[in-house]
Amino acid sequence: MEPVIDPAAITTVGVLGAGTMGSGIATVVARAGLEVILIDNDDGALARGLEKVRAFLDRSVSLGKLPSRTRDAALRSLRGTTDLGLLADADVVVEAIVEDTAAKAGAFGALDDVCRPSTLFHTNTSTLPVTAIAAGSKHPRRVVGTHYCNPAPLMSLVEVAAGRRTAPEAVAASEAFLRRVGKTTVRTKDTPGFIVNRFLIPFENDCIRALEAGLGTVESIDLAVTGALRHPMGPFTLLDIVGLDIHRAVSLRLYEQLRDPRFAPPPLVEAMISAGTLGRKTGRGFYGYSDDRAFGA
Ligand SMILES: NC(=O)c1ccc[n+]([C@@H]2O[C@H](COP(=O)([O-])OP(=O)(O)OC[C@H]3O[C@@H](n4cnc5c(N)ncnc54)[C@H](O)[C@@H]3O)[C@@H](O)[C@H]2O)c1
Repeated sequence: MEPVIDPAAITTVGVLGAGTMGSGIATVVARAGLEVILIDNDDGALARGLEKVRAFLDRSVSLGKLPSRTRDAALRSLRGTTDLGLLADADVVVEAIVEDTAAKAGAFGALDDVCRPSTLFHTNTSTLPVTAIAAGSKHPRRVVGTHYCNPAPLMSLVEVAAGRRTAPEAVAASEAFLRRVGKTTVRTKDTPGFIVNRFLIPFENDCIRALEAGLGTVESIDLAVTGALRHPMGPFTLLDIVGLDIHRAVSLRLYEQLRDPRFAPPPLVEAMISAGTLGRKTGRGFYGYSDDRAFGA
């Protein structure tokens, strides 16, 4: 059986998918001083992802939270490509493509032909079974679920889930890698929603239902949650960052699997999606946004 890479020897990380999460994960890894190869199968998405990394690091510098030399080194260590073949040098590949089992399993199948026999494979799924995704790979023992929170460069927690065929040493190496890039990890079962979304999705839906019922305004519910529950941001601020289309998709997938009505998206979610008010990415969600400035660290 081929060995799993020694986490101390990891120098190069591939990130597959340059969207919200892939660009955030690329930021985390580049900021920690490792080489990053960011890949997308869409040129435009790749360019936008690379720009998001740069904008985040620039803003971190302008806020005084990151030395400019760290930003410069991070940007030097970042490469963008649409060529999967460049992942031949990757010690770890973090998959952050669309939330679709067949697409993710297919991506890991394609990586079998490209990557080294010790490469660690991470899937950043929110709702899908790690075991089913890993089944697309000839090397399921090296496939680990690593669920980052959004926005990845700001949120420290990553949930780590082993599939049924994942090797314990792959889980341990993944946790060590995540600590190297500044993350806190928790282990969780390979089950729909892991730990965080099992709590978060019903909570967000309850907040939307409270708004529908007129318990308070967007602002007052956000303030109640930050002020009394000490969440770092209110539910509507967070939903605007995540995007209501993503929230609906995650809610529905968990509802389909768990059959618990708390996961069913409330009608207001559908209405806002129909109106094109998805959150920050459309300039309007629960709040209005006059620009699309990047968040800073
Ligand atoms: N957005 C969140 O809040 C969040 C949080 C945690 C986990 N996730 C999970 O992370 C994953 C990515 O989510 P996202 O919000 O970043 O999605 P996104 O739509 O912003 O980005 C996905 C990217 O993957 C690219 N892509 C699709 N198929 C590809 C392929 N075969 N090869 C290379 N690139 C491909 C797309 O072009 C796109 O740029 C999903 O599985 C999602 O469930 C999302």
